[in-house]
Amino acid sequence: MKQLKSVKLFVGLLLLCFSGMAQTGGSVPRKVTITVNKPTTTISPAMWGIFFEDINFGADGGLYAELIKNGSFEFPMPMMGWRDPDTEAQGVMLIVNQAAHGINPRYAQLKLKGTGDYVLLNDGFRGIGIQKDETYLFSIMAKQLSGQSNIRLEMVNAKGTVIGKAEPVSVSGDWKKYNLSFTASDTAQKGKLRIIFNGQGELHMDRLSLFPQHTWKNRPNGLRNDLVQKLADLKPGFLRFPGGCIVEGRDLTNRYQWKTTVGASEDRKLIMNRWNVEFPHKNAPDYYQSFGLGFYEYFQLAEDLGAAPLPILNCGMACQFNSSEVVSLPELDPYIQDALDLIEFANGEVSTKWGKLRADMGHPAPFNLRLLGVGNEQWDEQYVERYALFEKILKMRYPEVKLIAAAGPFAEGAYFDYAWKAFQSYKPDFIDEHYYKGPDWFFKNAARYDNYDRKGFKVFAGEYAGHGKDNAQPESKNSWVSAMSEAAFMTGLERNADVVQMCSYAPLLAHVDAWQWRPDLIWFDNLRSIATPNYYVQQLYGTNKGTHSVPALLDGKALSGKDSLYASAVIDSVTKELIIKLVNAGEKTESFEFSLAGIKALKGEMTITTLRNEELLSYNTLDKPQAVQPVTTTVAVKGKKLTHTVSHRSFVVLRVKFQ
Ligand code: AHR
Repeated sequence: MKQLKSVKLFVGLLLLCFSGMAQTGGSVPRKVTITVNKPTTTISPAMWGIFFEDINFGADGGLYAELIKNGSFEFPMPMMGWRDPDTEAQGVMLIVNQAAHGINPRYAQLKLKGTGDYVLLNDGFRGIGIQKDETYLFSIMAKQLSGQSNIRLEMVNAKGTVIGKAEPVSVSGDWKKYNLSFTASDTAQKGKLRIIFNGQGELHMDRLSLFPQHTWKNRPNGLRNDLVQKLADLKPGFLRFPGGCIVEGRDLTNRYQWKTTVGASEDRKLIMNRWNVEFPHKNAPDYYQSFGLGFYEYFQLAEDLGAAPLPILNCGMACQFNSSEVVSLPELDPYIQDALDLIEFANGEVSTKWGKLRADMGHPAPFNLRLLGVGNEQWDEQYVERYALFEKILKMRYPEVKLIAAAGPFAEGAYFDYAWKAFQSYKPDFIDEHYYKGPDWFFKNAARYDNYDRKGFKVFAGEYAGHGKDNAQPESKNSWVSAMSEAAFMTGLERNADVVQMCSYAPLLAHVDAWQWRPDLIWFDNLRSIATPNYYVQQLYGTNKGTHSVPALLDGKALSGKDSLYASAVIDSVTKELIIKLVNAGEKTESFEFSLAGIKALKGEMTITTLRNEELLSYNTLDKPQAVQPVTTTVAVKGKKLTHTVSHRSFVVLRVKFQ
């Protein structure tokens, strides 16, 4: 027995030895010189941001914590999301359209027969996620026209077991809001809400709503805590909203109009979400925009996150992949006026019309809007001529607001070249470039901006993501190799931070049961959310932004793809730290020796954060969220040299203090 143990120990030591050899690989160290005291450019505080769009149930059914779908019966099919299970003997429900009401004209009329409970059931957004011990707040607008009635609630899980109950409240008289609540005795991933009416006579109802008590900052009608926390943990420099193609609409009536998303929630006019019908194989017939999360809430979210607000507005053009509808040039004024009014809404004195609305909604202080996008993925002459009219007026009235013009939907090609050339006659502050490409493209294009004109427009890399292989599992397209390729590409963004001053991965959020587009940065279901490998890449950049880019050179050149290696470096001039980002996308371990020019010495410990997986196609799922996640270690440092060995298929961030 003793002998067997020592054989095992010997074999173990041998294996350890071999694995150690495999890691160092005996390679000659790559000698990189970093000139710490010669910054090439400052890094904009807004460098790494987030792109939010209501796609994949990102807002309704996602970030916006409302749990009842179609609570005001305003979907074109007014009973979508609702069921009245076989209780006709107890009552009859009709949907009344009071067209004179204008916005959100429908309500439900219920005639109770006095023969027992009438039950109305709401399915939520692919079920209602209920957390044990959480309290849920229900509200309903109701009016009793004749007779008398009361309302109570039951929350049931997928098996029909009751896991929460609210005692009856009596309804009487004219329209009033009634509040009920319950605390859940169990967790349910796909619960349903039973709203139970008892009594007799005629009752009208509207605006049924259910929220968890704990939302982000516990705001009423607020946002889902876990999702906002994930956004906050990215430390984003800006928040782009509300998209994306949703800005454009499939046609102009379907475009995003910020004015219909502010003020009292009942005055926000519901419209179809363009992603409802965009992809025939991914139809989502119940996808609408209630605008419970509207422009005020976006500005508030940006403020909560410490991110600069960056709204993108429709420029008089619907999606050119869909209808290509445009408003005629002489009729563009209302669109430009929307932009002027938005700036007033965000920044104006409370004595102004739109500044007053902001104050009435609870935010007298300005939101400090300094960035505005004119159009999303627009292209060609019809875009530039509309942009020009926006620019003329906006630059005159609000020169402090930087304007973003779009380079179209593609990373290169005729539309892209046309836009860059045509904008030379105008003065946009940023050109918004988009690239949805395979990982290979990102690896090969890490030096994309090395030769951009230093005197030209600044670049907003407004939407990008590595699109690779996938399988039936929704999260599978967020593979490690896609994330690693983005990390490699981002070394080039960081190195060229004088040109590229804002960047955002897209899209941001996706519900595993209701998505239209992938990959996405964060996946969620009704209760849980996970960070993808791509999320961790964004987070490592966002939390290691630094203040200045410094040269990191191998043989006098930036390391940008040679032998599948990528490197960039920044310093934080306030905390006196050097931060090095390294990607080894190759197949063997590489060692690095960094000579640090312009410092006296390194201090204390270096923090090493490594993101890696042996399997290029590995990904995180809601059930297994930790396949790819950062691991942090520390090592003592001194002198003016650093060495570090980087495993193959890795992204590493080194952070160290210097004096
Ligand atoms: O991010 C998804 C979509 O991709 C955006 O809505 C659009 O701008 C781009 O085509």
